[in-house]
Amino acid sequence: MKLVIISGSARPNRQSHKIAVEVISRLRSIETVQPFLLDVREDRLPLLESIYRNHPEPTDTMHYWKNQLDQAAAILFVSPEHNASYPGALKNALDYFYEEYKNKPMGIVAVSSGALGGIHAVSALQQFCLKVGGLVFPGYLITPKVQSLFDTDGTLSDLSYASRLDKFLQQFIDFASKHG
Ligand SMILES: Cc1cc2nc3c(=O)[nH]c(=O)nc-3n(C[C@H](O)[C@H](O)[C@H](O)COP(=O)(O)O)c2cc1C
Repeated sequence: MKLVIISGSARPNRQSHKIAVEVISRLRSIETVQPFLLDVREDRLPLLESIYRNHPEPTDTMHYWKNQLDQAAAILFVSPEHNASYPGALKNALDYFYEEYKNKPMGIVAVSSGALGGIHAVSALQQFCLKVGGLVFPGYLITPKVQSLFDTDGTLSDLSYASRLDKFLQQFIDFASKHG
């Protein structure tokens, strides 16, 4: 199953991307899953003037996102919470596409430096997923206090979170396998 992971922060010192990298690393050890990263910061889709379908001159990056989304059996968002929602940069990138999302299983991992773990970003992303006709996996994962989860060498050292992450990923894969 091709699983596209969308990393949603464009900040240079983003913490949520560490979770996206961790997600991909863990998914690589699952034989039935091929994870692919779409990275809002790396890919820098320009401020939206026209959606992909109507774009007069789609860039290589726009084509790349289109192809990845078309081929995805399921989509997993790894998004920080910025001001009680998901970041504008992520929304800008997502809004280029519409029919590409239809009937795709979608999962949400939210990340925050606060105690609530990005729950408002979850709600906002759920609204987006419903609007574009995605099949939202109800069992989202929140990530409180992301700054305390990793060692200085970048190893995920919070075993409780690691266990919740593995459980979430397996449940999402099961959901995606049944509904994809
Ligand atoms: C513009 C902005 C707004 C933020 N708003 C919230 C918020 O509403 N709730 C929250 O828990 N954290 C908030 N944060 C802190 C993020 O949770 C924190 O930066 C965390 O590392 C995840 O975001 P990142 O991947 O961009 O680093 C905000 C951060 C920024 C830059």
